[in-house]
Amino acid sequence: FQVPEAVNEPVLSYAPGTPERKALKEALEEARSKQIDVPMYIGGNEVFTEDKRPMSPPHDHQHILGHYSYGDASHVEDAIKAALGAKSYWEELSWEHRASVFLKAADLIAGPYRAKINAATMLGQSKNAFQAEIDSACELVDFLRFNVKFMTEIYSEQPQSSPGVWNRLEQRPLEGFVFALTPFNFTAIAGNLPAAPALMGNTVVWKPSNTQVYSANVIMEVFREAGVPDGVINLVYTSGPVAGDVIFEHPDFAGIHFTGSTGVFQTIWKKIGENIHKYKSYPRIVGETGGKDFIIAHPSAGAKAVATGITRGAFEFQGQKCSAASRAYIPRSMWPEVEAFVKEDLASIRMGGTEDFTNFVNAVIDEKSFDKIAGYIEEAKNSNVAKVIAGGNCDKSKGYFVEPTVILTEDPMFTTMREEIFGPVITVYVYDDARFEEALELVDETSPYALTGAIFSKDRYAAEQATNKLRNAAGNFYINDKPTGAVVGQQPFGGGRASGTNDKAGSGLNLLRWVSPRTIKETF
Ligand code: ALA
Repeated sequence: FQVPEAVNEPVLSYAPGTPERKALKEALEEARSKQIDVPMYIGGNEVFTEDKRPMSPPHDHQHILGHYSYGDASHVEDAIKAALGAKSYWEELSWEHRASVFLKAADLIAGPYRAKINAATMLGQSKNAFQAEIDSACELVDFLRFNVKFMTEIYSEQPQSSPGVWNRLEQRPLEGFVFALTPFNFTAIAGNLPAAPALMGNTVVWKPSNTQVYSANVIMEVFREAGVPDGVINLVYTSGPVAGDVIFEHPDFAGIHFTGSTGVFQTIWKKIGENIHKYKSYPRIVGETGGKDFIIAHPSAGAKAVATGITRGAFEFQGQKCSAASRAYIPRSMWPEVEAFVKEDLASIRMGGTEDFTNFVNAVIDEKSFDKIAGYIEEAKNSNVAKVIAGGNCDKSKGYFVEPTVILTEDPMFTTMREEIFGPVITVYVYDDARFEEALELVDETSPYALTGAIFSKDRYAAEQATNKLRNAAGNFYINDKPTGAVVGQQPFGGGRASGTNDKAGSGLNLLRWVSPRTIKETF
């Protein structure tokens, strides 16, 4: 079995007249024109319940895309049983077999399912065509293909032997089942979190966010068509605490692959700690959590590059990216120019539903997110030390729309400089040009998070200084680029401090967490 060379999936343009645009428009129309009934998938069975919950586009919350079956603790128990039941069959298959299944899933998404999964992400999570393409087509395909490459590298790593002694390392799957608890904001992450442990021979209980069900259903359709055997990935929809109560009490719980909020991750960690004596093995705890990602400009930087970094880093994907820029430190001499460029950019940006491809900014995911973001904007409007200098309007009458918003503050510790907002809001603090080193200290000390960050500087010594000083302030650090848009296989992604366990999605480091090596010495 020859593993194909892993190459990043090209991002299609969706320009007028292209076949991909036509296919996507048709998929959107079809999805909007009917309502679907979405089951859970447990042990290969479609499971419907009486408790049906609606799915709506965040930008058009009165429109119903369909309903999904909501489960309870008994469904989580069934999913665990199915995962444990499928385990020996799956882990005894050759790695080539597992690889071929996930490579086929990648090809299905890159080809026949591309329009469908992008349309589902656009409607279910309110992303524009370009954002959906980057996420649910390219990044998910990249995860699936590159994971196979990383897996073969892991398997080929062997210790030294000597005449008469054969030493080998066997990469066993974990003993038990893995729980994938996945977020709404990236279809790619939702797909990768169950797929990565499954590729390494584990069986999985997958609970997506209840606001990502519409595209999760397409991912599952692809996994099934690609030949993921029954019981290997079991998809349940229920509340996090209901699932957690069953899962973290179970003796065969072997690990969690999580992306979500810092608060939830800390609660999970405590729960696992409380139950540690019940498990057969110490569970693998892999989590990517919050961020308060920064941009700092050195006085030598170009104002236009900094402004573009702010607009794209903070407002693309509605700022609903754990990597999104949400605080900026700009030298006083440069600020008037940066401000003018940012305002010019914002004046050209259109906001609205995803079906109109000219809209750059779409809705935030749900009412809870909307209210939280609007609350932070309100706090800035009412403050003596901060003001809203661009955007600031919020309207949830038809969809959950928050205008891209820039807050300017004279207090570097103002709430919106410190707390994660998870929306299209950035706060700017202007520092005296001569105080670059103090500004670096502020960046490092202001927030508990350490996910992504960027320095803009033409002076390479200053860039080097920032790189060293901010060593622990970001797991992904960018020099002269926005702090978002990590590409699988190119910029392994993850952060430290309160941002997660930094097990680098899109790298072999992540896959190593899903195996437990056995060393075998044979003397002959
Ligand atoms: N991996 C995504 C990014 O880097 C979240 O923006």
